[in-house]
Amino acid sequence: MVTVRAPGKVILYGEHAVVYGEPALAMAINKYVYVTARARSDGKININARDLRLAGISVTISENGDIIARTDYGAVISALSYVKRAVELAMGYVDKKVGIDLEIRSEMPVGAGLGTSAAVAVATIYAYIKELGYDIDKRELARLAWQVEKDVQGSASPTDTTMATFGGIMFVKPEGNNAVMEPVRPGTNVPLIIGYVPRVSTTKDLVAMVRRKYETMRDVIEPIIRSIGLITRKGREALERGDLELMGVLMNINHGLLDALGVSTRQLNEMVYAARNAGALGSKLTGAGGGGCMIALSDKVEVEKAIELTGGSVLKAVLDINGVVVVSND
Ligand code: PMV
Repeated sequence: MVTVRAPGKVILYGEHAVVYGEPALAMAINKYVYVTARARSDGKININARDLRLAGISVTISENGDIIARTDYGAVISALSYVKRAVELAMGYVDKKVGIDLEIRSEMPVGAGLGTSAAVAVATIYAYIKELGYDIDKRELARLAWQVEKDVQGSASPTDTTMATFGGIMFVKPEGNNAVMEPVRPGTNVPLIIGYVPRVSTTKDLVAMVRRKYETMRDVIEPIIRSIGLITRKGREALERGDLELMGVLMNINHGLLDALGVSTRQLNEMVYAARNAGALGSKLTGAGGGGCMIALSDKVEVEKAIELTGGSVLKAVLDINGVVVVSND
């Protein structure tokens, strides 16, 4: 039996602008998806993932080797799709189809923009391969997990799967359909408080909404996008120097520009301002927006309380430097 964990991530700067060729800065956080895998002899695949709302669903391998999900209802199947595709690709990698019990647990809210689906994909593939006694190069693992996201979602950037695999902080530079990821060495600890509220829009819809604005008012939107790109580059420098105050100022400007693009919400803005008023060095929405998560640069309990008072839920996080790891193997 093997248990592995893979981290979630936040975007420190640059979401949405990254869709237009600007860089983004992403940080893996010490909040994890855990996958426990235990091989079984009857060829069945059992998935138990209470936190993903997948409790007790079982799937079987058909005669031609495909994995068949026996239950199919709405949101559940979409989370299951990641697990199913991850197992298929892991089986392909080791060229062995063995039944398995998978127990999946998430310390992060699912679908809030913290990269849970990527962490599920990375951890599931890794757990299957390790349980069968094989190994995999991390670059190959990241590639397979990205394939899971692309197959399930239609399109996906490699950011989340790279962060869940390698951990650390990455400067993401889009190049065509790909992205080059440069590891960044922080000059200091980055204490983050994450606030979250339910999402009211999907990443896909928000990206499309910004695209419409870009196409109809390019002269207005283009400078905002380029400005966010500049903030991301300066944010990276501030992080490398360990200048948390400048990082905070840049987060605040980044949030204002995201709000200008129309991707923030009243609840996100309330959390963002409450955090600043309670003493955070800076705060912004993180990820696509439309609800979901914000980050505050702080470790103060007052900031947590202030976020909660607006109706948000709170997670405290610091940097994860390990990426996916085996936590137990017996
Ligand atoms: O929702 P998230 O955390 O995956 O963030 C999406 C980030 C965007 O820049 C809005 C979209 C993208 O594909 O980069």
